[in-house]
Amino acid sequence: MQILIKKFTSLFWVIEVLGFLGMFFPLQIHALKAPFHPSDVLPVLPRQVSWPILNYLNGAADLLPSFVGAALPANNTLDWKGACFYQNTAWLEFHNKTGSQFGGGTLHLKISHAHSWTCMDLYIFATPYRVTWDYYFLSREHTLEFNEWDSEAEYEYVKHKGISIFLMQAGMLGTLQALWDVFPLFTNTGWGENSNLGFLKKHMGASFEQRPQPWVTNVSVDDIHSGDFLAISKIRGRWGGFETLEKWVSGAYAGHTAVCLRDSEGKLWVGESGHEDKEGRDIIAIMPWEEWWEFELKKDDANPHIALLPLRPDIRAKFNETAAWEYARSMDGKPYGYHNLIFSWIDTIDGNYPPPLDAHLVASVMTVWSQIQPSYAANMWNEALNKRLGTKVFSWTCYLIR
Ligand SMILES: *[C@@H]1O[C@H](CO)[C@@H](O)[C@H](O)[C@H]1NC(C)=O
Ligand SMILES: *[C@@H]1O[C@H](CO)[C@@H](O)[C@H](O)[C@H]1NC(C)=O
Ligand SMILES: *[C@@H]1O[C@H](CO)[C@@H](O)[C@H](O)[C@H]1NC(C)=O
Ligand SMILES: *[C@@H]1O[C@H](CO)[C@@H](O)[C@H](O)[C@H]1NC(C)=O
Repeated sequence: MQILIKKFTSLFWVIEVLGFLGMFFPLQIHALKAPFHPSDVLPVLPRQVSWPILNYLNGAADLLPSFVGAALPANNTLDWKGACFYQNTAWLEFHNKTGSQFGGGTLHLKISHAHSWTCMDLYIFATPYRVTWDYYFLSREHTLEFNEWDSEAEYEYVKHKGISIFLMQAGMLGTLQALWDVFPLFTNTGWGENSNLGFLKKHMGASFEQRPQPWVTNVSVDDIHSGDFLAISKIRGRWGGFETLEKWVSGAYAGHTAVCLRDSEGKLWVGESGHEDKEGRDIIAIMPWEEWWEFELKKDDANPHIALLPLRPDIRAKFNETAAWEYARSMDGKPYGYHNLIFSWIDTIDGNYPPPLDAHLVASVMTVWSQIQPSYAANMWNEALNKRLGTKVFSWTCYLIR
């Protein structure tokens, strides 16, 4: 077995999430005022402390975001009772401030009757095309701007179905903290990469040691034959994070595979699922070896670690190249196959995820992640859920969070 190792970098980047965390810090100041409710200050306690308290107070089910309704245009005002603020109303106003084709909108929220001085409500606002968060600490009218609808489809959707609003319990911040274990896996930073390695070590006992140079074996293309297998482990960026979870749920140490094929002229190709096409979709593709290899060496930001596993001569003799090509061509251009993949790990109502992951955490990750990689996250869940439910539905958000 020959191992082709790409260099193993470690960069330290400024962590964007700190900014995200930062938005909760004002709480600390207000938390000093009395009277307060214990769950109000949970977010500012260290997780080791806050989780047991939280579990005692609520139980896991209370951590699920709840759908409070959809804010619709004009006279259809939505009202609901929050966790902190007991009287809330929301309505949607369309505008065309940017003069774009479909215009945008303003979501008006009137928040009042807080049950204590220190509490806050945390909301997720979703359309099939976007997810955003906000939190409210003060009784007053708040607005949330949607400068431009993403497309005619979003415009039409919002006109008829409104903007879905999900309430997260105040204690949900505890879960958000748990996200920091999982969320950084998906960031394309040295921090994300180290998070992946740390996660695999902690949860799978897998250790990573830096190899001596050179990191790329000088393999000759002539030595690669039809049927030879490429086992790939990506540890950085969106694929890195996804592969980490995949490795973990499946127990494998490779998160991705590809197969080599030679055509009748002897030219070497690689059949791979998860190739990004021009429209940004992940599809099954057959690529010339040179192109594939060049990409892996120079352009793949997932820091791939690739092992070439050639077929044993006797097995190679049995490998039916014609049949392999027939199959590869029949799959070329098809979607990546998230449906198969995800449902290899989501196959029961509960108990799908090894701790500390739970369905809710996954939903939350996907929510956050979809802000980073909107089309990717949407594709993944759409494909998977539509396959499972036999539907052609718009959004994973509604399934996961309800
Ligand atoms: C909203 O209600 C007001 C008063 O009831 C009415 O004049 C107005 O036309 C309504 N607007 C829409 C868009 O239905
Ligand atoms: C918004 O304004 C632009 C420019 O005036 C116009 O072309 C577009 O149709 C408007 N969109 C809507 C939804 O009114
Ligand atoms: C790899 O092989 C090629 C051709 O055999 C040779 O020119 C090149 O110097 C080799 N590179 C390394 C790093 O050994
Ligand atoms: C190889 O596959 C082709 C196409 O499926 C089939 O026609 C042929 O008989 C197979 N060859 C052998 C040796 O099994």
